[in-house]
Amino acid sequence: PSPFPGGRPKVVVTRKLPEAVEARMGELFDVELNLDDAPLPREALVAAVQRADVLVPTLGDKIDAGLLGQAGPNLRLIANYGAGVDNIDVETARRRGIQVSNTPGVLSDDTADMTMAMLLAVPRRLQEGARLMEDEAAWTGWSPTWMLGRRITGKRLGILGMGRIGQAVARRASAFGLEVHYNNRRRLHQQTEQELRARWWESLDQMLARVDFLSVHCPHTPATYHLLNARRLKLMKPEAVIVNTSRGEVIDENALARMLQAGELAGAALDVFEREPAVNPKLRGLPNVLLLPHMGSATEEGRMEMGEKVIINIKTFADGHRPPDLVVP
Ligand code: DGY
Repeated sequence: PSPFPGGRPKVVVTRKLPEAVEARMGELFDVELNLDDAPLPREALVAAVQRADVLVPTLGDKIDAGLLGQAGPNLRLIANYGAGVDNIDVETARRRGIQVSNTPGVLSDDTADMTMAMLLAVPRRLQEGARLMEDEAAWTGWSPTWMLGRRITGKRLGILGMGRIGQAVARRASAFGLEVHYNNRRRLHQQTEQELRARWWESLDQMLARVDFLSVHCPHTPATYHLLNARRLKLMKPEAVIVNTSRGEVIDENALARMLQAGELAGAALDVFEREPAVNPKLRGLPNVLLLPHMGSATEEGRMEMGEKVIINIKTFADGHRPPDLVVP
């Protein structure tokens, strides 16, 4: 049986979504959209959880214990528009009988593509070159010794977190001739490891000391907060480059900025930050640092498919079943 009268839940969406997604939601549910394309202020979020059967939040909405404490009795599902659920206190939601779902899988390839673009850009000085071309006088002609970067082929890539996105990066990296190493809570099945040509390191510290590139793909949880702290960053080679398309909180940004400034790390490409949309000013203005505005999953197709996932999760739940992308704390 549906937990909602008539099987048609009241769904409150906190951000503007692709139009086709909003239209489909309108056909299936009693939906309340945010037409402003700006995050809901806290009071509006409180009002939303008080009247919603289903809440559809995104990245910037803090669904914490305080907010969940104010939720109305009807709130039964939080169908996150996004793969990462670090914006939601899943444990507290669970205790209050509220299920949480997310949108994994559909953004893995897009995020892996962006990771590769960033990983290639920093050692080959892409943004320096592009910026320079904006100035007519800056380029005086080809030179054997000018704008030299570092080769990618044959180098070692360390992947921190080997879930769907990490694996999609591993596949691409092998095609670029990178040697793939990974650290993950659990080792992959031998067959998957062989397919990906990836070597597992039980010790993150040991892997860090050996790689030329490090790409972060673990979620942000209490266990991964500042996992890459000053001590661990110092284990890395000074020629190493770090790429982060996961969550800013996994890296201690102050420690990273200090090392980049001191030349103790060769570069970084960051799409995510500890206090988005604020960016640590110490990371700005460094030639070896590429900063992007959290756009790893930003494709037209991906954002549609994320919406389709949200709809399937809500519809399945409204039909009285377990949402396919249920997040278990
Ligand atoms: C995610 O899905 O977690 C992205 O970071 C934002 O959509």
